[in-house]
Amino acid sequence: MRELTSWLSGGADPDSFPYLPVTAEFHRTGKHFVGKELLALLDETRSHVAARATGTGSADSGPARLLRAFLDVALDKWDGRYDYRSYLALGLLGLPDGGGGGSGDDGPVAELAATREGRDRLLVHLVADALAFELAAATDATDLLPEQRPGPALVAKRYRLGVRAVTPALSRLGLTVDDPRPAAAVAALHALAAADRSAAEERALRLSMLPVYLSHDEYLFIRVLQSYECVFAGLADELRAAIDALDAGRAVTAADRLAYARDQLASAAPLFSLLASMQPESFRTFRAYTEGASAIQSRSYKLMESLCRTPEGSRLDSAAYRSVPELRDRVRAGGPTVDAALRAAVRDGRLAGADRDLVQGRMREFAATVLHWRRTHHRLAVRMLGERPGTGYTEGTPYLAEVRAIPVFTAVAAEPDPAAPSEPSGGCPE
Ligand code: HEM
Repeated sequence: MRELTSWLSGGADPDSFPYLPVTAEFHRTGKHFVGKELLALLDETRSHVAARATGTGSADSGPARLLRAFLDVALDKWDGRYDYRSYLALGLLGLPDGGGGGSGDDGPVAELAATREGRDRLLVHLVADALAFELAAATDATDLLPEQRPGPALVAKRYRLGVRAVTPALSRLGLTVDDPRPAAAVAALHALAAADRSAAEERALRLSMLPVYLSHDEYLFIRVLQSYECVFAGLADELRAAIDALDAGRAVTAADRLAYARDQLASAAPLFSLLASMQPESFRTFRAYTEGASAIQSRSYKLMESLCRTPEGSRLDSAAYRSVPELRDRVRAGGPTVDAALRAAVRDGRLAGADRDLVQGRMREFAATVLHWRRTHHRLAVRMLGERPGTGYTEGTPYLAEVRAIPVFTAVAAEPDPAAPSEPSGGCPE
């Protein structure tokens, strides 16, 4: 790789790292098949960046940080530490990556409006980019991931579902896409999202797409998972704010936070429908190379779950929590939960009467939405996987059938979900 060797011999300034040719090489083969020579050069790059940081004390300069985060993602398979977080490049997107640091998920949510806006923008950028890829492939404007292209009907369905998935976030941002022609709506959404991104955000978005193989649908898979990570991180923010409000005796604020969280998760539902449009045979093709990366390792999901209530000991001992040891330790040490905050507020006489009913009602609604999410996820997995085991080393859908009924709260029971089927079906989530 000429660009990389000349960069290495020419001072190796992180600011001028040749991202474009390097990612183009990853895209040419898929991350799983990148040549050893390139990976060895990237490994050398990593040593250079570390040595340079020690020498100049510039470990935290923006370009050096970005390059380290990129190498972390690019070298995961080479290092033998490939997992869900590195597959999705969560560190590059500024989402909690399970490393115990990064995007700051401790303490009170100081600037809630800014945090919410940031999540909305990221969600729009991710989905708009997934749809822009569909549009580019459909119009022969890209040769990225050329295998198993979907047909026009499926692509049109993706346009429709994707635009629907971001419509609530768009309107919160004061933006609209109202062209009735699906492809034109996607083009408009893409233009809006591109104009909204800073150069740094644009670069992070580009670098956060390193599929393991060449199947077209892996692009959609990665972007939908990243989008849900963004949603889960937002839910965790809202739940933390609800706990703070309950502790401070602000029942209406707590109820509002819970309602906002419920709306976030409910309005993201078209993302599952979008993913259900993935071609099962494509999924089975690329998942041969995603072994070891599973959303069972998702930190944001467990953070969300454990902010609702303290999970049972058996759950804390399961693969789900063992894959996020620092979070597991924090939960074991008695981290705050909505459940405990509600109980304490009622016990101490800070929450009673109509206020208590209001908060409990919102908790029930949030719990019903989470349970609905789990049932839909299970159905989607049945459709895509059948009897196959999961890439997170569980037996697959039997694991999901078991965990889907775990109560979200213990202080209140969930409202029955009117949209829930009485029996699990293997159908499409739409
Ligand atoms: C083709 C689509 C999908 C399939 C086939 C699928 C399959 C599975 C399977 C089999 C597991 C069990 C763990 C394992 O062995 O891997 C799992 C866990 C999980 N998946 Fe998915 N999944 C899909 C999409 C998604 C999406 C879009 C999300 C959103 C982030 C997601 C989030 C999760 C979470 C949070 C868990 C852990 C659940 C728990 O431990 O309670 N999955 N998935």
